[in-house]
Amino acid sequence: MIQPPAKINLTLDIGPLGEDGYHAIDTVFQAVDLRDDLEVDLSGGPALAEDNLVMRALRRLDAEAPWSVRLKKRIPERAGLGGGSADCAAALLAGARLLDVPVNRLSRHAACLGSDVAFFLIGGAARGRGRGERLTPLPDLPTMWFCLAKPAHGVPTPEAFGLLDRDGRAMGTATERLTSAWSEVTSPEALAQLLANDFEPAIRRAYPEVDALMDEVRRRGALNSVLCGSGSAVAALTADEEHARRMAEALESQGYWARAVRTLRRDEWP
Ligand code: C5P
Repeated sequence: MIQPPAKINLTLDIGPLGEDGYHAIDTVFQAVDLRDDLEVDLSGGPALAEDNLVMRALRRLDAEAPWSVRLKKRIPERAGLGGGSADCAAALLAGARLLDVPVNRLSRHAACLGSDVAFFLIGGAARGRGRGERLTPLPDLPTMWFCLAKPAHGVPTPEAFGLLDRDGRAMGTATERLTSAWSEVTSPEALAQLLANDFEPAIRRAYPEVDALMDEVRRRGALNSVLCGSGSAVAALTADEEHARRMAEALESQGYWARAVRTLRRDEWP
């Protein structure tokens, strides 16, 4: 069994819409310890729907093999936490191991399957440019604790991009700021100053429940908070594990989905 993790975006700058129908982005991905369980073998047992990214990944490796798949989801969907992409990357890794495919052949498959998939072949923290698939690995930060929380409704990614009007606007500089300061990010207080996501104003306007959740985590003492991808999950940066656990418990009792998570080092995934 392998356990693909969720990601958050410590920063997410979005550029203008390109001719290919995609926006250029500049982001720092960070893997966190909220994980699905994925089991893949060649026994011809039950699998997933063929349009699932996991099956599409395995079929790219071998269209005819008797893939059998079990997936236990813990990462919520339409949350901006990259769960579908993480499962897809995990399927590439597990399938490659079974078929003796060298891991360095996987990144070209990843880029075809989705913009975030390539990050999950690397894990830890990484800067992503282009559509997010042009990656520069970053050294591990000291462990940071977040409370992830999400209102009942998710945000479909195409809709989130549709809410933005980046025409004629240059790419922001939050990611450049964070990566330049990276070696000085030695505490949650230092990281708190540097979190930013270009989706936030538009998503907070269009989704009042996300807006209310972001106010709520600040009331509960978050050092700062940032939208995960295009939402609807929010990552609230906390002082320590105890603070993250207390916040998650309180938010769950208010009806939100919420989990305390810590950052993963590169040696913890894959
Ligand atoms: O990456 P994915 O195909 O899931 O994205 C779905 C839609 O979101 C795209 O068709 C596009 O409209 C929008 N998108 C975008 N810029 C990106 C990623 C997605 O405009 N970098």
